[in-house]
Amino acid sequence: MNYQILVNKTNPVDKFFIPESLIEYLEYNGEKIAPDHKTLVEKETLFAFFKMQAEAKKAGYAILIDSAYRSYEYQKKILDKVLEEKGEEAYKTVALPGTSEHQTGLAIDIALSRNGIYCDDFDDSAPEIQWLINNAYRFGFILRYPKGKENVTGYNYEYWHFRYVGKELSMYMKDNQITTLEEYYINKNNIIRKECN
Ligand code: DAL
Ligand code: ZN
Repeated sequence: MNYQILVNKTNPVDKFFIPESLIEYLEYNGEKIAPDHKTLVEKETLFAFFKMQAEAKKAGYAILIDSAYRSYEYQKKILDKVLEEKGEEAYKTVALPGTSEHQTGLAIDIALSRNGIYCDDFDDSAPEIQWLINNAYRFGFILRYPKGKENVTGYNYEYWHFRYVGKELSMYMKDNQITTLEEYYINKNNIIRKECN
């Protein structure tokens, strides 16, 4: 698995791409979470999430996974639903099938557990989310669609969507204050070009 893979509007994955090591995320929180569908996550991503979850817990925060791997077909269903509700605006919040990094199994949408109650309706002032924004890099995750970078990523700010890229890259991005994968690859390609000249 290429943990550093760039998937976006101009870098799709194959319609039939399915990550090799998908594991079912089974977490019970009074009632079964993820009530609408089975939650599958790429293996290394899930273990990294568990480490992050344990650290968050020490800080007093209970985080869960709401959505991770999504098949091409499932992504299409989500997009169709949001298109019906919001029209064209949907394209700023939901990726076209084949261009969602959820299809790689490396993206996770966060839910919270508040007093044992599953919570997927919160804003970015939630202390759990602030903790994640400040600490996710320590576990190999990045906030994938940051505020102020909508023109770079092509998506609205998504404070719940974290992407596993591996610790080496998340640390590098943190050290170099690079906040999007798009900018990381633009910088990298410029360096390669300079070296060739
Ligand atoms: N919400 C993100 C962009 C996705 O649909 O993959
Ligand atoms: Zn997401």
